[in-house]
Amino acid sequence: MAEKSILITGGAGFIGSHLVRYFVNKYPNYSIFNLDKLTYAGNLENLKDIENAPNYTFIKGDICDRDTLKKLFEKYGIDSVIHLAAETHVDRSVNDPLEFVKTNVIGTLTLLQVAKEFWQKDNYEGKLFYHVSTDEVFGSLDLDGGYFTEDCKYEPHSPYSASKASSDHFVRSFYDTYKMPIVISNCSNNYGPNQFPEKLIPLFINNIRHNRELPVYGKGENVRDWLYVEDHVSAIDLIFHKGKIGETYCIGGKNEWKNIDIIKRVISITDELLGRESGASLKLIKFVTDRPGHDLRYAIDCTKLERELGWQPSYTFDDGIRKCIEWYLNNQEWLDQVTSGDYKNYYDKMYKGR
Ligand SMILES: NC(=O)c1ccc[n+]([C@@H]2O[C@H](COP(=O)([O-])OP(=O)(O)OC[C@H]3O[C@@H](n4cnc5c(N)ncnc54)[C@H](O)[C@@H]3O)[C@@H](O)[C@H]2O)c1
Repeated sequence: MAEKSILITGGAGFIGSHLVRYFVNKYPNYSIFNLDKLTYAGNLENLKDIENAPNYTFIKGDICDRDTLKKLFEKYGIDSVIHLAAETHVDRSVNDPLEFVKTNVIGTLTLLQVAKEFWQKDNYEGKLFYHVSTDEVFGSLDLDGGYFTEDCKYEPHSPYSASKASSDHFVRSFYDTYKMPIVISNCSNNYGPNQFPEKLIPLFINNIRHNRELPVYGKGENVRDWLYVEDHVSAIDLIFHKGKIGETYCIGGKNEWKNIDIIKRVISITDELLGRESGASLKLIKFVTDRPGHDLRYAIDCTKLERELGWQPSYTFDDGIRKCIEWYLNNQEWLDQVTSGDYKNYYDKMYKGR
């Protein structure tokens, strides 16, 4: 019998696929169940290398679907949840906030209710609900002032961050009200392979390659704290195993960049790797009208995670960003596929009728 039966939601997405691979490989004695609806952002190609691993099962399904969740808990004896499934793109949330409430709020609440139903009878013995969230719930910082910590008040500005904030509150409410063992982490911006190319870094690498415009919001003054995706995953691993029940942990890269500066850095490395003259693609930059409600600066103080759990990121930004750009340039087929929509057929090819 498996030591743990872990339900990872959103495991076909960007961070989720890195997390699923890491857990499947590192913990052969755990059974890993990946529940994903396969929206435009979910792609089973991300997990091709482990799809036949004996401790891995993929289930196509929606976290809002109570019956599917109940069947999963029943059939597989789920004892832990690591919840990543979400709508995640801020621009999409500006256009269609309701979709974000459905998955991020109602989906999270549905999952909490099913977990409670199955776990409460065992007095939650050996159970854990781990909720993966974002630093965007804390709002925005001044350019020269302070950092987000676990004690910051919630002040979300976009429909995306408002929906994630709401989900965080529901998770905490299940700890306070029903004594469900929960833990929450709030992480800064991730970068790395397999991120859907609507997000800044993969979008720009792809556009540079194809000599397309690079749309920069406002003057590119907004500041983000960037973390390589594998370092986020190692933090999740530590928090999952050693985090204190009921606590929040902030995860960040101590790696702040103004958008315009990180864009210039991406241009410089991408041009170099493509054999172009240095700075040749700078001319592709196009400043466009700023996103409404665009937060100025995010930056995380992750002292608690470092001090209490001994976490340290393993990638320097120089190494991480080069590895990331190389991956996109070497995986043009992946980029073409996810932008063409063909990959939606992958599930049917691979899993239907199994
Ligand atoms: N990307 C970041 O920089 C970042 C930073 C901090 C926290 N996070 C959080 O980490 C989590 C994962 O982010 P990501 O960037 O990997 O997202 P993503 O958009 O790449 O992937 C989301 C995944 O969730 C799945 N999904 C969406 N709705 C679903 C539903 N109703 N039921 C089941 N599955 C569904 C999608 O198919 C997709 O595979 C999110 O909760 C996000 O808020 C992301």
